[in-house]
Amino acid sequence: MRIRYLKRTEDILDDSPFVVRAAAEWKGKWRENMLLAAGEDTSSHRRLSIEIGCGKGKFITEMALSHPDELFIGDERVSTILARTALTLEEASRNTRKYGIYIPPLNNVRLIRVSAEELRDVFTEGEIDRIYLTFSDPWPKEKHAKRRLTSDRFLPVYRYLLGPDGDLCFKTDNDALFAYSVQSLQACGWSILELTNDLHGVQAQDDATRAAADETKARLAKIDPGVLVTTEYEENFMRLRKNINYLRAVPGKR
Ligand SMILES: C[S@@+](CC[C@H](N)C(=O)[O-])C[C@H]1O[C@@H](n2cnc3c(N)ncnc32)[C@H](O)[C@@H]1O
Repeated sequence: MRIRYLKRTEDILDDSPFVVRAAAEWKGKWRENMLLAAGEDTSSHRRLSIEIGCGKGKFITEMALSHPDELFIGDERVSTILARTALTLEEASRNTRKYGIYIPPLNNVRLIRVSAEELRDVFTEGEIDRIYLTFSDPWPKEKHAKRRLTSDRFLPVYRYLLGPDGDLCFKTDNDALFAYSVQSLQACGWSILELTNDLHGVQAQDDATRAAADETKARLAKIDPGVLVTTEYEENFMRLRKNINYLRAVPGKR
């Protein structure tokens, strides 16, 4: 049963037009390959964003649908979860064809099954414009701190991936992980340009605080439209009225 299930996962990944199995072969050529496959002009620069730990793919699918002029990569290290994302994208792709209004085909998104620590094997230095870390596993025990995706084990990888104007956008419900991440980023020389502990203003007690939270969110959304697109985990925590932490950081000089 388990073997059959695994086989089905591998079949989904093999058959999906969204999954790049030999990701290392695309190193340095992500923009070009994606634009060529979409039959588009390769000479203009398109923004390329990656979500690391994309889970079942709600965020990356909605970002790709709502920003057809940008390119997106969903990265997830667990095959069975990535297969769910592949199916989500296929479903979304079918739906775009069903709508009465014209929605461009979903050809600006790809999926890779690569562990974050190995992303240097798959991208050249500076190839990425924006990294999204969304509701990364908190690894609450101190002895597992290095496994947190914002630990100093991973930050050099992100520094390598990002181009000169690149940034890292991070959302989490986990207050302890957020506090740790702020410290870790600063200790590794990153500058935090934006930070809020209540992105959606769920803890606002009065109209003035709520209005201030709305204003902050609207301002952030102009810089990072990912602020307005929720992930699966984010939806769950918002239902519980849990505050969502958000920051945007840049690595500074190499
Ligand atoms: C808590 S889930 C969040 C999923 C999704 N981002 C969301 O917000 O709904 C974290 C995801 O990150 C993935 N992940 C954890 N460590 C990773 C790593 N080193 N590289 C890539 N993905 C990773 C996990 O497999 C899991 O699917």
